[in-house]
Amino acid sequence: MPSLRCLSCKTNYPTHEKLYTCPACDGLLDVTYPIDEMSGERLMSLWDWRRASPRTIDQSGVWRFRELLPEATEDEIVTLTEGNTQLWEAPRSAKFAGVDRLVLKHLGMNPTGSFKDLGMTTGITQARRLGAQMVACASTGNTSASMAAYAARAGMKSYVFIPSGQIALGKLSQALDYGAVVLQIEGDFDDAMRLVREVASETPIYLLNSINPFRLEGQKTIAFELLQQRGWQIPDRIVVPGGNLGNSSAIAKGFRELLERGVIARMPKLTIIQAEGSNPLYRMWSEKSEVLAPLSPAWTLATAIKIGSPVSWPKAIRGLHCSNGTVESVNEQEIADAKAIIGSDGIGCEPASAVTVAGIRKLVAAGEIDPGEDIVAILTGHVLKDPDYTVNYHRGTLTYAPPGGERISIHSNYANAFIQVPSEKQALLSALQL
Ligand code: F0G
Repeated sequence: MPSLRCLSCKTNYPTHEKLYTCPACDGLLDVTYPIDEMSGERLMSLWDWRRASPRTIDQSGVWRFRELLPEATEDEIVTLTEGNTQLWEAPRSAKFAGVDRLVLKHLGMNPTGSFKDLGMTTGITQARRLGAQMVACASTGNTSASMAAYAARAGMKSYVFIPSGQIALGKLSQALDYGAVVLQIEGDFDDAMRLVREVASETPIYLLNSINPFRLEGQKTIAFELLQQRGWQIPDRIVVPGGNLGNSSAIAKGFRELLERGVIARMPKLTIIQAEGSNPLYRMWSEKSEVLAPLSPAWTLATAIKIGSPVSWPKAIRGLHCSNGTVESVNEQEIADAKAIIGSDGIGCEPASAVTVAGIRKLVAAGEIDPGEDIVAILTGHVLKDPDYTVNYHRGTLTYAPPGGERISIHSNYANAFIQVPSEKQALLSALQL
């Protein structure tokens, strides 16, 4: 049976207790599974077989892998058949980054447009198993959109705590549409996170941020699905944006569990990319510190990852160590250009996802990535999540102001501005230059 284990003091707890951190030492908790006699070969063939099965739980790109997920009956599972997101070749992004070949796995193709759905199906299912009627999260937007949708499916009341005026409108509109109670906190994400943790500890509300270990269990299936789509061939490197550091931690855990069960023979290098104004993990990693120093205030136009005090950093560090990974940081200009290039591949993504391609480019230039490496970059959110950013970039009106600094204009190096034309054929023809 799965159990909860503290990362720090290694104490075990049953999964039916409502715990977010270790009651003994406040350490982060992991869901752990016994390593049974089912071989790696057997797991792979069972999971491959399920891909063709019409059952909803087999069609879910999360629950298909249920041998390595928390227990739940079919009736308890709350799913929107998440997962099954594409792997796409991205030749222009590869050229821009300076690598021979680049594959993007687009988790923005999930039901609510981000990878959060993978963790929300397991998080809300656990909420139902525990009998919770109310759920809450702090969010830079995507978690709230996803939680609101899954809570609606489960008939639960949802409360989202968002930093006032700091989330992309697409995400806010989703939370409203799915019926969440939206509380705009006059503060940043880190304030909202602290407050929601306090509220959840004093009320029957179940907390669904990624500090909740059941969220990460769903997100770790990114590793499983990715390998399944590649016929179980391991890439050399997996590149992922880092915000609250739940996703990078989850992906590393997924690979590690497959390694322990003999499904794979080595770990791909986990490569976490942060935005320069919100890069506490990068600072910790490059300074070789033992503890993460929160950054306040955090800033970046990639609002999804505008986080200065990421809760899952010890798990992310563990993932970096066990995969011989690395951390990089990219600036606003690099993010904006990389996003436009991903768009030019006919793929598109939200700004936070574009740090991946920007980061690969920087690591290639520094000689840390070999251009011949087999790399998969994870795009985390859909291009329609933040249309304001995209339109401003292409119009040449994207600007940002670091705390205490002057307002800076982003150079629209790959701009595709729209053309204003009078409603008349001749004017159109001359605008078309045909
Ligand atoms: N990309 C997108 C699009 C995100 O929404 C997030 C996080 C990340 C990357 C970073 O992932 O936090 O696991 O390191 N969004 C959270 C939210 C914080 O509230 O939606 P992470």
